[in-house]
Amino acid sequence: MLQLRDGQGQAPAIHRADYQAPAWWIDTVDLTFDLDPAKTRVLNKMRLRRNPEVLAQPLRLDGEELNLARVMVNGGGTSFKMDGNQLVLENLPEGNEPFDLEIFTTCAPAKNTQLMGLYVSQGTFFTQCEAEGFRRITYFLDRPDVMASYTVTLRADKALYPVLLSNGNLVDSGALEDGRHFAKWVDPHKKPCYLFALVAGKLVAREQLIKSRSGTSHLLQVYVRPGDLGKTEHAMNSLMHSVAWDEARFGLPLDLERFMIVATSDFNMGAMENKGLNIFNTKYVLASEATATDTDFSNIESVVGHEYFHNWTGNRVTCRDWFQLSLKEGLTVFRDQEFSQDMAGSPSARAVKRIEDVRVLRTAQFPEDAGPMAHPVRPDSYVEINNFYTVTIYEKGAEVVRMQHNLVGREGFAKGMKLYFDRHDGHAVTCDDFVQAIADANPGSPLAQHLPQFKRWYSQAGTPRVRATGRYDAATRSYALTLSQSCAPTPGQSEKLPFVIPVELGLLDAATGAALPLQLADDSAAQAGATPTSRVVVLTEASQTLTFTHLDSEPVPSLLRDFSAPVVLDIDTTDAQLLTLLAHDADAFNRWEAGQRLALRIAINAIADNAQQTSANGHFDHKILPAEFVEAMRAVLRHPALDAAFKELVLTLPSETYIAEQLDVVDPQRIHAVREAMREQLALSLQADWEWAWEQNEDTGGYRPDPVSSGRRALSGLALHMLCIAAQRTGDVVWPGKAYQRFKVAGNMTDRFNALTALVASGCELAAPALARFHALFKDEPLVIDKWFALQAGAPDRGGNVLPTVRQLLQHPDFSIKNPNRARSVIFSYCSANPGAFHRADAAGYVFWSDRVIELDAINPQVAARLARALDRWKKLAEPWRTAAREAIARVAAREGLSNDVREVVTRALAD
Ligand code: TRP
Ligand code: ZN
Repeated sequence: MLQLRDGQGQAPAIHRADYQAPAWWIDTVDLTFDLDPAKTRVLNKMRLRRNPEVLAQPLRLDGEELNLARVMVNGGGTSFKMDGNQLVLENLPEGNEPFDLEIFTTCAPAKNTQLMGLYVSQGTFFTQCEAEGFRRITYFLDRPDVMASYTVTLRADKALYPVLLSNGNLVDSGALEDGRHFAKWVDPHKKPCYLFALVAGKLVAREQLIKSRSGTSHLLQVYVRPGDLGKTEHAMNSLMHSVAWDEARFGLPLDLERFMIVATSDFNMGAMENKGLNIFNTKYVLASEATATDTDFSNIESVVGHEYFHNWTGNRVTCRDWFQLSLKEGLTVFRDQEFSQDMAGSPSARAVKRIEDVRVLRTAQFPEDAGPMAHPVRPDSYVEINNFYTVTIYEKGAEVVRMQHNLVGREGFAKGMKLYFDRHDGHAVTCDDFVQAIADANPGSPLAQHLPQFKRWYSQAGTPRVRATGRYDAATRSYALTLSQSCAPTPGQSEKLPFVIPVELGLLDAATGAALPLQLADDSAAQAGATPTSRVVVLTEASQTLTFTHLDSEPVPSLLRDFSAPVVLDIDTTDAQLLTLLAHDADAFNRWEAGQRLALRIAINAIADNAQQTSANGHFDHKILPAEFVEAMRAVLRHPALDAAFKELVLTLPSETYIAEQLDVVDPQRIHAVREAMREQLALSLQADWEWAWEQNEDTGGYRPDPVSSGRRALSGLALHMLCIAAQRTGDVVWPGKAYQRFKVAGNMTDRFNALTALVASGCELAAPALARFHALFKDEPLVIDKWFALQAGAPDRGGNVLPTVRQLLQHPDFSIKNPNRARSVIFSYCSANPGAFHRADAAGYVFWSDRVIELDAINPQVAARLARALDRWKKLAEPWRTAAREAIARVAAREGLSNDVREVVTRALAD
């Protein structure tokens, strides 16, 4: 169907300000599917009525790629017309009485490569309706504020599709003629159509009966393909923990008799929270110690939690419109982060999780916030909603909820959540409604005091910068700390107003590293009891000064503890002060942060220092790391009390992407060379310490994916990696041999894959036989083969060898661009996760990128548009990369017939 376009072929933008309540309500939906891969018949019987609060309008139903066979009103014929993709009915019964509308359509699931709507994956039917996929199943008011009661009948061949699932409860099932059968499902809860789902195929389930606190029992099921049942235990455990956690922490029980998870290997994203019938990418369900790493295990726990927690935050209370997406996603990410922290248990394991989350925010969201796709947590407009499932909506949105949590306290937040559900259960609401509930439940809190200003976090894009300067005055024994905030312009927003920024802080004694009592000059509360050593100050002005008293010497400031706000902190800490923080800060996050700042400073200086040139073989001739830094790293590595997981985080240098974000002009090759040189020096200078760390952590006993043993595996993996890097430089063959041996005999995938990574990334000769052996061992395990592809596409570049390897991988019999996981494992691993190999001076990486964006767009626009974002930050690149990148983007933009998805991304990238 032809769509209305403006001059550039761009579909029109949709604006938040244009929101209007629907002119019609759909109260009930009765769907009957005759499932057939080539041609599925869908009979849709709806009961509708006018919305008396809205001016009368024709009924406009959304539909996409449907064949319309019949439309009936109250059992008789009716007139209708098509307007673009919409079915328009103008002669509907007058008055406010409900009437019946029956629509009969067909669609072709086997041809659906977009994986939106109804599609077939390995002979099984699946649906994906969020955000606007339901219109690819039937004509409907495809918007989240239209909530209806669903009855669904599925009919299909019994031999091919023995399992027939939809939302809610199974109320009837039985045999039909010609070897077919049926199942009828009724969802007891009203829902928006984006939460509709069906699954039909040959599946088996792991089952678990559970009892809630109130004594009701529920059936939990995890459905997979028959061979995969043995890999569902961890997902089921994660689900049971999720149910118990939401009841314990927020008083939110499971509201269904039956809760199902189904896994599919063809999925655009991670998973989907369809009411009572979550559909998951296999990557976030299937795990065994032989095939999944510790990271996979922990991702499964958090994604299972995430989708389950949506049952309340998203499904019971949903979004009024898609501009409110962060209402459910930011809040649900916050909840899954809290869940993972509570599961991790110890304070140090919680800090490790916090550091990992912040690392994602900084390496993915901060660049987004500074680039052409920057948008507020609650956007004002979009062309294609699929492009707004972003790290800003999810991760920054979670930080905005976390700030609310911290401003009202843990108990206060629980009260706020309760009020939110008391007010809005069963409704489609806005981000404003959420903050209002949290504030109203906590009158007098800093959130309530600064509510209108706090909401700027939802309306203003961009990462604020907080500049901190301290001045010690020996005469008055006081320390004046000035905090100033600013935020750079983002596309469409030139002026920014001050944010409400909670800054958790402490002061350390410079000589001993001891925590100092925080006595504020104008603080009456502190006089009453013991002075705290950590507190939260709320920055609301453009600039504020705090004066701490009773200090005998200049303290070391520890600011933004636990990353209390999603901002960039600029502070002129000396190296000595950072070393004190690294060694002594009571806040684990800032301890890690001090090490990262030291490394970042060294990297940036080396990048800028023209005297430090790389020699012909790409190596730096000079040592980059000062002795104090190496010694500090040694001290952390050898520390008797610190957890292995924390050590691994401290000893991992900031990523190339994060380093690039600190620079105004980016030479990706120089960043890569400097970081590699730093790593090599760490490998060589700490060789004995790495050997010690390897020996200490090499054996973690029987496999359990708990924080302590997975931390030890992470550290031994890093040690092995470093020892192989050192060996490559010194010509030693012992460690590569040990790594190969480890690779061969490892009892779990974490150790095995770490060893393989060490071999591949250090470029040693054993890498090729190891890769061949790995493939042979796991050729029947698609998720492991994804790792095999990703490792090669993400390997360090040696004289431009990665791109030819990637091209070969595309020809491998196991490669298929139609499978999103596989496409990501090769193409994204190269274009988005391997800057040193991708940013080639000859522009061949960019040409490859533009070819793949165009190729993918014809198959799956959603996945293509994600790939299209790999060059978001092209304007920062130095020449010749900058011009080459612009040309590659322009080449994509010049294509006719691009999807809205890719068109929006490249148009924004080229805008000035
Ligand atoms: N709502 C899902 C989640 O975050 C996201 C999602 C899954 C999605 N599949 C999608 C979004 C397809 C857009 C398109 O849990
Ligand atoms: Zn979600």
